[in-house]
Amino acid sequence: MIGVLVSGEGTNLQALLDAGLPVVAVASNKRDAPALARASCATDSFELVDFPDRTARDTAMANWLEEQDVRLVVLAGYMHLLTPSFLDRFPDAVVNVHPSLLPAFPGAHAVEAQLAAGVAESGATVHLVDEGVDSGEVLAQERVPVLAGDTADTLHERIKSVEHRLLPEVVRELCAH
Ligand code: GRF
Repeated sequence: MIGVLVSGEGTNLQALLDAGLPVVAVASNKRDAPALARASCATDSFELVDFPDRTARDTAMANWLEEQDVRLVVLAGYMHLLTPSFLDRFPDAVVNVHPSLLPAFPGAHAVEAQLAAGVAESGATVHLVDEGVDSGEVLAQERVPVLAGDTADTLHERIKSVEHRLLPEVVRELCAH
């Protein structure tokens, strides 16, 4: 049973749903995230302002996911770091998708940073999540070319089309174990 955490558009969530994977719960740190509307399963939001601190928020979110029988958590455009109060509840069972060839270009503005650095090649990475910024063990990675005239939008779209294939593949593999 898969729980997905989102903050934004949710195109990676859509790819997991379209692949027929058993997504039973979708949680967001933003009440108005467009991604929430894509899910027909249980959804809830856990905004930091509604809790005393990050630990309390992450504990509440982990409790809710456990109530939905979630065993594997997928971060699909979830833009907050998770604290040990969350990660310790799902050991080695939290994965993230990131728009670069990690360990190169971690962080929230990876696509813009790659264009600014003038790299010829970008990519998509699926990795295990630890307390660091995009620093957990890499599970799968695929290269994506940077083309002349690329903007952050055009490059990100090309990366996302790879993410939409790679993420469901890795998640399906993890579900089989
Ligand atoms: C993706 O590019 C993902 O790699 C990054 O955030 C973006 C999320 O896009 N972590 P979406 O919300 O799945 O459309």
